This record gives sequence, structure tokens and C-alpha cells, in this order.
Amino acid sequence: MGTNSAAQYTRVAIVLHWMIAVLLFAMFAIGWNMVDLPRGPDRTFNFALHKSIGLTVFTFALVRVVWRFFNRPPPYHPSVARWRITIARSAHLLFYVLLFLQPVSGYLSSSFSGYQTAIFGISLPHWGWRDSPLNEFFTEIHVMSSVFFIVLICIHILGALSHAFDRNDGIFRRILPW
Ligand code: HEM
Ligand code: HEM
Repeated sequence: MGTNSAAQYTRVAIVLHWMIAVLLFAMFAIGWNMVDLPRGPDRTFNFALHKSIGLTVFTFALVRVVWRFFNRPPPYHPSVARWRITIARSAHLLFYVLLFLQPVSGYLSSSFSGYQTAIFGISLPHWGWRDSPLNEFFTEIHVMSSVFFIVLICIHILGALSHAFDRNDGIFRRILPW
């Protein structure tokens, strides 16, 4: 029960953590929903929204990684088991990988769809071309990566909740904005 009240993530890290988390939940909801929509304005709108928010997440992820590089997370209390720290650190590292792989694979699949990719109505440079095999290849990576991502998020939340309710060792508080 060793509680270390001084050990908090920086305010910037906390804001980025929760902003990205909320946007990711929205991204999964939009992504799962949009692929089943029939062709038409509703589908077009949802795809455009998914791409716009996804590219926004990518921008936040870039800022987050740079910030993370210069601001290490607070040390764990010595009472926290080594194996828990190893699992947490591995999950966090994987998150950073997925925070790149997910939007980049989506952007690449989009670039080879034949459509011009835009972020909230602003067209991005259209360097790709219509190429079904490349489009399918990156779509496959995007979908597989999204499955890894959601599984990891579930594991992460279970771990966080076990700290919040079961262990009460101050680890959950490290990331809370208050
Ligand atoms: C940043 C976080 C992102 C997350 C969490 C995410 C998640 C998802 C999910 C869950 C799906 C549905 C997969 C399925 O069929 O089960 C999907 C589909 C898709 N996403 Fe993303 N995505 C992200 C970013 C992006 C970006 C930046 C783009 C493009 C600029 C993009 C383009 C697409 C496209 C085109 C599909 C449809 C693929 C298909 O035709 O099956 N995504 N995404
Ligand atoms: C949904 C997307 C989420 C992602 C991608 C994510 C990602 C991350 C990452 C990468 C870290 C480590 C930060 C670092 O060391 O740089 C972290 C820490 C943390 N997250 Fe999340 N998180 C998400 C959602 C959540 C949710 C919903 C909760 C709470 C229920 C949560 C609770 C925590 C806690 C308690 C920590 C601190 C853990 C520690 O220091 O060992 N996260 N998160």
C-alpha cells in the first residue's frame, strides 16, 4: 500500500493520454460502424470523419512521443512487483508502436484507394494512385492492427482498474488529471 503522492505524469502527458484515449474510442466506434454502411452520403461522411480524426490522433501521437522522450514517466514505488512493471512497460511500448501503425496504415490504404485524402475538408497532397492490391494490403494491416490495438486496450484497462480498486497503490492516480 505504499502510496507515492509525488509520482505523477506531467500535465501534458496526462492531457495527451486522455485526449488520445477518447478519440481512439470514437475511432473504433466510427470504424466498425462505417464499413457496414451502404454506398452513399452517410458512408462518405463517416469515412471522411474517420480519416480526419485519425490523422488528428496521429498528430497528437507525434507530440506525445516527443514529449515522452524528454519527460520520463514517474518511477514506480519499490513495492510494485517487477513482473507487473515489465508487462506495463511492454504494453506501453506496444501502444506507441500501434499509435503509428494504425493511422499510417489507414493513410496508406486511403492513398491507394483512388480517392483524395482530406482532413476536415482540407485536401492533402494526392501522391497515391488507384491500386487495388496495395489498397487491400494496407487495409489488411489496418484491420489486423486494430484487433491488436483493442485487445491491448482491454488488457491495459483491466490492469489500470486492478490498481484503482484492488491494489490502491497510487498507480491509477499517476495518470488522473486531478
Ligand atoms: C488513429 C487511429 C485509427 C483507428 C483506431 C482506426 C480504426 C479502424 C477500425 C476499427 C476500422 C474498421 C476495421 C474493420 O473492418 O473491422 C477502420 C477502418 C478503416 N480505416 Fe481506420 N483507424 C484509425 C486511423 C485511420 C486513418 C488515419 C485513416 C486514413 C487516413 C483510416 C482509414 C480507414 C479506412 C479507409 C478503413 C476502411 C477499411 C476497409 O475498407 O475495410 N483509419 N479503422
Ligand atoms: C484507450 C486508449 C488508451 C491508450 C492508447 C493508453 C495508453 C497509455 C500509455 C502509452 C501509457 C504509458 C504512458 C507512458 O509511460 O508514456 C498509459 C498509462 C496509463 N493509463 Fe492508459 N491508455 C488508454 C486508456 C486508458 C484508460 C481507459 C485507463 C483507465 C481506465 C488508463 C489508465 C492508465 C494508467 C493508470 C496509466 C499509468 C500506468 C503506469 O504508470 O504504469 N488508460 N496509457
